[in-house]
Amino acid sequence: MTLKTPKITIAVDGFSSTGKSTVAKRLAKELGYIYVDTGAMYRAVTVYAMQHDLINKTDFDKDLLVNSLDNIELEFIYNKKLGFAEIYLNGKNIEKKIRSLEVSNFVSPVATVSEVRRFLVDKQRLMGLNKGVVMDGRDIGSVVFPDAEVKIFLTANAKIRAERRLLELKEKGFEGNFDEILQNVMDRDHIDSTRADSPLIKVDDAVEIDASYINKEEQFQEVLSIVQKVLNE
Ligand code: DC
Repeated sequence: MTLKTPKITIAVDGFSSTGKSTVAKRLAKELGYIYVDTGAMYRAVTVYAMQHDLINKTDFDKDLLVNSLDNIELEFIYNKKLGFAEIYLNGKNIEKKIRSLEVSNFVSPVATVSEVRRFLVDKQRLMGLNKGVVMDGRDIGSVVFPDAEVKIFLTANAKIRAERRLLELKEKGFEGNFDEILQNVMDRDHIDSTRADSPLIKVDDAVEIDASYINKEEQFQEVLSIVQKVLNE
């Protein structure tokens, strides 16, 4: 694709395991844009909380986490071999660690904390300051970049998402149990959609795509045609 057109901002929001990151990553590559996985940033803060015993199955010390935010340094460093940027927490590559089911189980409560959200949203806005960015998450079109030129909202049936998540976990070398994953998917949907600060919503100017019964290629082509239409306008 030629890039004579001015760069735009592309927001890809939606439920977990709807293929957001796959489609956003490929789109960024196709356009020569930066890709930002904001879920990885919430997961990285969760890893920090776990490492410092601020969160476990029964307790979550929000205040201490909020007071520790200044000690959290996040970086995305491009891995040429993998073809995408991996996330580093205080200088350590935690790309693999953030994908574990344990982190998935704790991340949604961490993401409800307004101070955490402000801390990360400020960083996300800086990363997208010069446009030419594809950012995926839950609140990109609604809060981070409400003026984004393209907003995609991805949905899919929860059982299908749990199956995909199980496959993905296995591919990454993690153990997984379907019922446990389905429960995690449904719990996260609920927390993400009902939290007071920046809940997951479809904004009016977002295009909704149901990814339940289409494959990755069809999903990508659908998103690409929406982007191309905007770039040609
Ligand atoms: O996309 P993901 O599954 O890696 O996201 C992990 C969690 O982070 C998800 O349950 C909700 C939260 N999140 C968020 O609240 N806002 C974002 N922009 C991205 C993720």
